[in-house]
Amino acid sequence: MVWRYKIKIQFKEALEKRKQQGLLRNLRLLEGEQEVRVKIDGRNVINFCSNNYLGLANDPRLKDAAIEAIKKYGLGSGASRLVCGNMVLHKKLEEKIAEFKNQEACLVFNSGYTANLGIISAIMDKDGIVFSDRLNHASIIDGIVLSRANFRRFPHNDMSALEELLNLNNNPKKKLVVTDTVFSMDGDIASLPEIVKICQKNNALLMIDEAHATGIFGKMGGGVAQHFGLKDEIDIQMGTLSKAMGCFGAFVCGKKDLIDYLINFSRAFIYTTSLPPSICASSIKAIEIIQLEPERRQRLWTNIKFLKEQLCNLGFNTLKSNSAIIPILIKNPILTMEFSQSLFEEGIFVQGIRPPTVARNESRLRITVTSKHCLEDLEFALEKLKKIGRKLCLI
Ligand SMILES: Cc1ncc(COP(=O)(O)O)c(C=O)c1O
Repeated sequence: MVWRYKIKIQFKEALEKRKQQGLLRNLRLLEGEQEVRVKIDGRNVINFCSNNYLGLANDPRLKDAAIEAIKKYGLGSGASRLVCGNMVLHKKLEEKIAEFKNQEACLVFNSGYTANLGIISAIMDKDGIVFSDRLNHASIIDGIVLSRANFRRFPHNDMSALEELLNLNNNPKKKLVVTDTVFSMDGDIASLPEIVKICQKNNALLMIDEAHATGIFGKMGGGVAQHFGLKDEIDIQMGTLSKAMGCFGAFVCGKKDLIDYLINFSRAFIYTTSLPPSICASSIKAIEIIQLEPERRQRLWTNIKFLKEQLCNLGFNTLKSNSAIIPILIKNPILTMEFSQSLFEEGIFVQGIRPPTVARNESRLRITVTSKHCLEDLEFALEKLKKIGRKLCLI
């Protein structure tokens, strides 16, 4: 009883502390579909914080594919892949992704979070060292922690620091370098060609997370590795189906040996029920659309360039963003949320991002743009950002 009482007090105190620091988080409610124009908490707003970059989350063709799959294969998969939950559509999706990424083999995971956990913890152990960019996604960090490998963080995109760290740890241990290709809060791009060279020189494995690059970068939407022509130089290519693909789940591509190893050793793959077949069907359809409709990607890039240029012209600090993720650095968390709330009241939905997601003094608005935003949407948002930015003395 005493313990239960104490833990309840602890919850209250932790929440109160977060509130006083301006860091308390609350859920907003989206009424209806993931669209550009949405109703959130009863207010009609234009959505500038979804990762639905190509507008596929509610594409009728993806919906039809899911409905057909439900009719044919039912809802749940009923078991993990290694028991009896390995269905025809899992196999088809993996073949499709391997072809899309031009890789020997592919394995689907239930989310990007569990993929990073499951890949890193399967291939690394306490005898290895993982070198990780300081701004890598939380799921990568959690995967490293779970693996019990030694953990070395290098300053964001700092290639000489990475090289120095590898030199300092130049022993025969297993070495893994891991990086996001598009950083989820800064929107900038990893220096992949240099990372590849450094890994080759130092005999380190390289793993990339293409969550925010898949469908957007590369001639065919294959990601940043494809953009730089590096498809054969990277050992482990992870990506998600939950962002530009508009669906759910994740994948890892590489050599067949890697995939067979993960099937046998990745606990996050082995000990969970497999994805519903309907999600596999819509993901296959999403890849087909990405391959057949490059105009979606082109529209997205036109929007990215326009918005980024206009925000810089207004005097906002958008860091080194070069993707659909455009931050506006505010620093102060309370001011960040005030900005976000004022925008919301003016009909623009942009989330504020605060610690612990970003470092102290790096709070920001995280704007995301999609191929479905029209010029008027962007101009309307810019007008409101300018008005409120000036009122808050940020520009
Ligand atoms: C870089 C990165 N990796 C992994 C994930 C996790 O992906 P998912 O949302 O599919 O779990 C995310 C997204 O939240 C991400 O931004």
